[in-house]
Amino acid sequence: MAGASSGAAGSATAQEHWSSRWAFIMAAVGSAVGLGNLVRFPAEVGANGGGAFVIFYILCVVLIGLPVLLSETLIGRHGQSSAIESVKNVAAESGASRWWSLAAGVGMIAAFLILTYYSVLAGWIVYFIGIFGSDVAGAIGSGDIGGGALTGRSVEDVQAILPGLQADPATMLVMHAIFMAITVFIVARGVLGGIEKVAVYLMPAFFVLIAGITIYGAFTGAFSSALEFLFAFEPARLLDPTVQLSALGQALFSLSLGSALMITYGAYASRDTNLAKTSAQIASADTSVAIIAGLAIFPIMFAAMAPGVLDAVLAGEEEVQGGLGLLFINLPVAFQSMPAGSLIGFLFFIMVFFAALTSSVSLLEASVSWAKRRFGVSRLSTTLVLGGIAFLIGAWASFSFNSQAEFQPLDFLIFSGQPVFGIIDELTAKIMLPISALLVAIFVGWVADKRLIDSENGLDGGLHKFWRFLIRWLCPLVITAILVSGLFPGLLGQ
Ligand code: PHE
Repeated sequence: MAGASSGAAGSATAQEHWSSRWAFIMAAVGSAVGLGNLVRFPAEVGANGGGAFVIFYILCVVLIGLPVLLSETLIGRHGQSSAIESVKNVAAESGASRWWSLAAGVGMIAAFLILTYYSVLAGWIVYFIGIFGSDVAGAIGSGDIGGGALTGRSVEDVQAILPGLQADPATMLVMHAIFMAITVFIVARGVLGGIEKVAVYLMPAFFVLIAGITIYGAFTGAFSSALEFLFAFEPARLLDPTVQLSALGQALFSLSLGSALMITYGAYASRDTNLAKTSAQIASADTSVAIIAGLAIFPIMFAAMAPGVLDAVLAGEEEVQGGLGLLFINLPVAFQSMPAGSLIGFLFFIMVFFAALTSSVSLLEASVSWAKRRFGVSRLSTTLVLGGIAFLIGAWASFSFNSQAEFQPLDFLIFSGQPVFGIIDELTAKIMLPISALLVAIFVGWVADKRLIDSENGLDGGLHKFWRFLIRWLCPLVITAILVSGLFPGLLGQ
């Protein structure tokens, strides 16, 4: 059966496979869980009014993300090649145009663009690990590990760490280079020797850390305020197109969908993996981490807020400082006055680093797996070249924080007032990922051979019917509707 056709790739490069289903899950969860869950999700929740965003986000994950995730992994497993070639193979077997591979092409470019700024951000994490690392060392040395963090510094000093780093391109570039070099090193070692190994060790460690920090935050922080903030909402905001587009973009980004990645990783899955079950496990792990991250970050942050400000936030009168400030300004300030703050702060940034690394590795792998076949070059050289280019673009983008902050080339469009970083983020999450996911849904729902799809998806009975309904009707219609309503007010209104 299809097992025989899995050689369809017709490429000289042998296709590698995960060593077990567990390894596949760890690698896919490693890709999904990243800065998207720990930085982007809390920031989007803050910027989009808490609960309404969370509810719409969960709907997007279940009704759109999960069906698309299954579609992507099954294309990959059947196609047995890079994302673009896998779609071509499935299209060829279905007698459809090879141009459907555009679905993966758009996604692959998006993944590459995301990598450029992802690594800069992760570089900041490396920097903060350094700061909190030396703080822990100092605390241990002075026998005061139970005290707060960064005790020699005033609150203003701590708030100035991130702006200071942003104004110091040389340090930022070194951090970005360190992170990109680690990513390149892992991807160059291959699917089994690099990507899988890192995921299998780092992801369990990540889960232990996040559980510990959340429990600690629940006891020492403003846990009930965080719950209220995350889950209370005005129903009217559910209908807000900006909230909807942000939630859809975040759901796709967080599950690494519309980025060619899950097709790429699906191709490394073995024939006996039940893709439906595995996809459900990946999606629930990722969503739980996003919510848990909210429950870990907001209590710590709210505990450090003046009561008046917190009340205004909970009443919806004041926005939580979203964006990067949350993680790099508010949290370090909160760690300052927290018992064992330096240790918690250090472990927190290590945890974020683990999550970021397993994602950046996947972001690079999406294009490496294509380029090495396309140009017939070794994995090592492909990884070095692509990692190098991503580094350079990221380096350029990181200047958008200071000297070129006024340089906003796409200002006339929907990105008014945002530096390059914001542009790449919006362009990928809110435009490219949805377009790629839309094409995948139409391809799997309408174009690809039904028997082929059914032989891969691991579903039967009512669930199978439901999935088919979602991928044929709900996903294409809802993604199109959200894209149009979310983008046009922006295009017209600015
Ligand atoms: N899902 C990752 C995160 O949440 C980011 C990512 C997007 C990784 C697309 C791979 C592909 O951080």
